[in-house]
Amino acid sequence: MSTILLIDDDDQLRKSFTRILSQEKYRIVSASSGEEGIEIIREASPDMAVVDYRLPGMDGLETFKAIHRLDPKLPVVMMTAYGTTDTAINAIKEGVFDFILKPFDIPDMLNVIEKALETARFMRMPVDMNISAEQVSRETIIGQSQAMQDVYKTIGRVASTDATVLIRGESGTGKELVARAVYQYSDRADRPFQVINCVAIPDHLLESELFGYEKGAFTGAAYRKIGKVEQADSGTIFLDEIGDMPLNLQAKILRLLQDKRVERLGSTKPIPVDVRIIAATNRDLEAAMADDSFREDLYYRLKVVTIKLPPLREKLEDIPSLADYFISQYAGSQAKGNPGISDKAIQLLSNHAWPGNVREFANIIQKTLIFNRGGPIAADDIVLATDSQNEIIQANSENSEIIQLLQPMARRVLESNGPPDRFDVFMDSVARLFVREALAMTGGNRSKTAKLLGMSRPTLNAKIEKYRLSLDTVVNSDSSGNIHG
Ligand SMILES: Nc1ncnc2c1ncn2[C@@H]1O[C@H](COP(=O)(O)OP(=O)(O)OP(=O)(O)O)[C@@H](O)[C@H]1O
Ligand SMILES: [Mg+2]
Repeated sequence: MSTILLIDDDDQLRKSFTRILSQEKYRIVSASSGEEGIEIIREASPDMAVVDYRLPGMDGLETFKAIHRLDPKLPVVMMTAYGTTDTAINAIKEGVFDFILKPFDIPDMLNVIEKALETARFMRMPVDMNISAEQVSRETIIGQSQAMQDVYKTIGRVASTDATVLIRGESGTGKELVARAVYQYSDRADRPFQVINCVAIPDHLLESELFGYEKGAFTGAAYRKIGKVEQADSGTIFLDEIGDMPLNLQAKILRLLQDKRVERLGSTKPIPVDVRIIAATNRDLEAAMADDSFREDLYYRLKVVTIKLPPLREKLEDIPSLADYFISQYAGSQAKGNPGISDKAIQLLSNHAWPGNVREFANIIQKTLIFNRGGPIAADDIVLATDSQNEIIQANSENSEIIQLLQPMARRVLESNGPPDRFDVFMDSVARLFVREALAMTGGNRSKTAKLLGMSRPTLNAKIEKYRLSLDTVVNSDSSGNIHG
């Protein structure tokens, strides 16, 4: 869970901010002055900070500067009222990540926070390469296959240069992880960093996000906006999913690569910038060029240094170490400890095509640990974890414990002369039981229960209401598993 530090002297605002963001599964720590905020950074090590511009004592900008000296990689978002946008623009030039205008629009605010946290993760979460699974303590690129060794070599060779790097590979193959390694091992690791996901941002906003605009450039351009490229000056920008970038922006990126200059929308004055570009895509760029959706000149500019990530099905020899790695990562957060994994289970994992690559693999391992009841992870655990998901299902899944438990129940409901909405009745019974057990385990504490179930509090409240789960039914819970209970 990400921690956000909020610095604002308005008690009411701190309260509502905390309420809204806690529902989004963020942890909020707050302070009413810059001085207090700085103290909190040392204790709470937040992932980002939101700072009001107007503060008693140290003002917002001074607070930002102090935070920046303490931890240059902590993104700071400034809150400011309409009249003070000029100050906000200057703050961006000083290195403030972005600003939110007060009174704020909640979706906009969440959007800015999401982006700041994404950037924080990229900059702050260190990535190691090429070390054995036993040594791992932080995020690591795992794999000893020839293809991965080539990847490490290229990262080592190009990281400290200013060369543009193009990272290619199917979805979930680790492109972002590699981009982070390139950035972190580069000479620009302490310089500004920006990440732009070209598919996550609607086309019409992408241009202003990248290049900024002048006041009055178009209807609604009420103030000057500094683009991310300019914000990354002297540092690095990561253009994720560049294969999905619209053609007119491809032309602008090409110009940036050639001339090292950008123009804000609504201005013809070129601004010199020095940015290193790291780009990634899962697109078939050659096919995209053939159908004129990707510019050939940009392609040649980008591909000088290409890092190609193999799909998981082409590096099956890495499966055992990937399994060890993810088991230790996920088991770390469990009371049961690291159970290890059986050879049969590894065999089963190696037989799958893994269309979602390492991301899918990691998800399966995580689920497998939920089903595991002690002892090394067995083939059965994997079958259970993948049951609802894909084709690994094997004949022996019929023997698994959970299926054995649920099957007679399912039969009973199907064969009963019960209600016509049998499907909903069955699913609701299971859902009710599940929520009830979670409530019982936490002694009825709703925040803990919501966390345990992986749902928001409002969703939990709705379920409690729907299933009429009052605290006494929970605490005096009979475990009869009664279908209509
Ligand atoms: N070789 C690896 N070692 C350890 N973890 C890996 C490796 N490759 C991928 N992962 C993990 O798999 C997940 C997906 O990786 P990542 O986000 O880098 O993929 P991607 O190629 O950017 O995918 P997409 O195209 O969907 O954006 C992440 O959690 C990442 O840490
Ligand atoms: Mg990615």
